[in-house]
Amino acid sequence: MATVRLVWRDGREATVTATDETLLEAAEHADFSLPFGCRTGACATCTGRLLDGDSTHVRQPRALKQRHRDDGYVLLCIARAKNDSAVEVGVDVHNDLLENPRKGH
Ligand code: FES
Repeated sequence: MATVRLVWRDGREATVTATDETLLEAAEHADFSLPFGCRTGACATCTGRLLDGDSTHVRQPRALKQRHRDDGYVLLCIARAKNDSAVEVGVDVHNDLLENPRKGH
């Protein structure tokens, strides 16, 4: 069991408890609705970013590039907390992943 702090970029924070469920499910069980789409790791809609602690993907996170994983991005629909952690959530986090041609990414 892990305590997970959810952090939104607008300053909201909440703490949920995650057992053997995904971070998305843990948030939903505590009545926080986070963005999601496929729930299988294929669309990245649920992207969060690990600020503290550690998590593991229970299946291949197909929607994340390796460099995003290296930067701490996780797919909340298939990620389980390994220990107490903090994760940035909300649609803004997913927007980080979108390529911006004007920035030359
Ligand atoms: S909801 Fe699609 S990757 Fe998580």
